[in-house]
Amino acid sequence: MLVCDWKGCPSEPVYNSDGTLKQSEFISISMAEPTSTHPPELQAFNHPDLDKNAHQHWENYQEADPRHASEPTKNFSNPESYQDWISSVQSERNAEWKFNVQFHEAADTESPPEFDKFTLFHDGVENYAMNNTTVSSKHLQNVANMTQEKGMFSPCMVGTLESQFLKMQCLIKGARRCLDVGTFTGMSALAMAEGIPHDGQVVTLEFDPTIAKAAQEGFDASGEVSKKIRLILGNACDEMVKLKATGETFDIIFIDADKENYIKYYNLAMEGLLKEDGIILVDNSLCALLYDKQDIRSQKIHEFNQYVKNDERVEQVVLTLREGVTIIRRRGQRGIKAGSE
Ligand SMILES: C[S@@+](CC[C@H](N)C(=O)[O-])C[C@H]1O[C@@H](n2cnc3c(N)ncnc32)[C@H](O)[C@@H]1O
Repeated sequence: MLVCDWKGCPSEPVYNSDGTLKQSEFISISMAEPTSTHPPELQAFNHPDLDKNAHQHWENYQEADPRHASEPTKNFSNPESYQDWISSVQSERNAEWKFNVQFHEAADTESPPEFDKFTLFHDGVENYAMNNTTVSSKHLQNVANMTQEKGMFSPCMVGTLESQFLKMQCLIKGARRCLDVGTFTGMSALAMAEGIPHDGQVVTLEFDPTIAKAAQEGFDASGEVSKKIRLILGNACDEMVKLKATGETFDIIFIDADKENYIKYYNLAMEGLLKEDGIILVDNSLCALLYDKQDIRSQKIHEFNQYVKNDERVEQVVLTLREGVTIIRRRGQRGIKAGSE
């Protein structure tokens, strides 16, 4: 397995048979052709490798609470109602799955669990998701092409799914000010800039001058939206300390630089840079599973995940988007005491 060791890049390069770097498979640059009425073939649910322990989990669950034991299912070929569909097609399908509710906090572990896959998904999943996601703007496509042309490591970019996710987080939250920790060639910064109003700002941090120059070129070619982006060349920790000293605060802080320092970035965000009702988004949080076991970044991300899990100040969700994205908010924002708060 190729280890991604390059300045916090999240994934590995994919090569063509002739040895050239494969075009990023996670950048959608045109609207997908409509398919027939059916999605592409994907029989993941009964794939033998999906979860070797799935049956056991299900049996344990049934044993723990017999009320949930499934009845033998009728085999409707064309269920007429939603309930018929659940009791026939869906029950059978889900019998292979882990039960998906967590009843208690998992104990901390020293290291991440064994996971022998390169990606979280089966072939076709991300493409299908991308084909049904809004196509990136021309400016984002330009950044993707420019990154490729310059021979920079394209998998570092957040890609179509995640850039659209970032933009939509900004729109949904009504964010005005975002901090992008780890610019690379600028895709995440640009996506967030597209989701904030014209007088908003994305501050983006990059310590590599060559990469920063490329990012600035991409921003400059992006017309009006570029006016919302401020690129700072420097070490992310140092620059965050400076931003904090000058009293700058942010609605959204996206952490995507070197994985070894995630806890530092998180604490800098929590202790001054993040607005009271702001959110932190953290990229590659599931790379604790995906990176090589020997790669120290796997361990560091695991430590980060557990650090957040045990931080009483916040609540969070780890999304299985791309290589994992964690959303973190302070508890009790705006006086809302929901659930266990
Ligand atoms: C995974 S890439 C970021 C990708 C970017 N968010 C995008 O969407 O294209 C990580 C970037 O963080 C930069 N980086 C790593 N460590 C850093 C540090 N300590 N300070 C500033 N930038 C850093 C790397 O040079 C690299 O460009």
